[in-house]
Amino acid sequence: MVDDWLSTFPHVVERLERGIDVADVGCGAGRALIVLARMFPRSRFTGFDNFPAQVERARANAEKAGVADRVTFETVDAAQGLPGRYDLVTTFDVIHAEEPKRLLAAIRPRSTTTATT
Ligand SMILES: C[S@@+](CC[C@H](N)C(=O)[O-])C[C@H]1O[C@@H](n2cnc3c(N)ncnc32)[C@H](O)[C@@H]1O
Repeated sequence: MVDDWLSTFPHVVERLERGIDVADVGCGAGRALIVLARMFPRSRFTGFDNFPAQVERARANAEKAGVADRVTFETVDAAQGLPGRYDLVTTFDVIHAEEPKRLLAAIRPRSTTTATT
């Protein structure tokens, strides 16, 4: 994720280093956000997943990783939209899930900058 994807968007890396608010849609057990939180200690991260057991796992993983002060998780159906606004919205291995178009429309950025693989 970091070497192959994030490194191709130096402007995103620069903003993460300065400190921004990041949302991860369909965060699962929180793996991606925990990696990012360790790399970018000035940024804040919120993971959303519609499966409560995943959110519990993600919270436990963030506690174990020592980043729970900057990484939080909420049970949310992102297809209904995200509660709040974020500087960066990521989603990994999720858009193939049911109703991908509705999910994408609900989390779409309001600016013109996107970083896709
Ligand atoms: C294949 S897992 C990927 C988890 C994580 N992103 C990763 O890469 O390890 C897909 C996740 O998306 C979540 N998901 C699917 N549809 C969702 C929705 N509408 N809102 C929030 N989460 C959703 C599922 O509950 C599941 O945890």
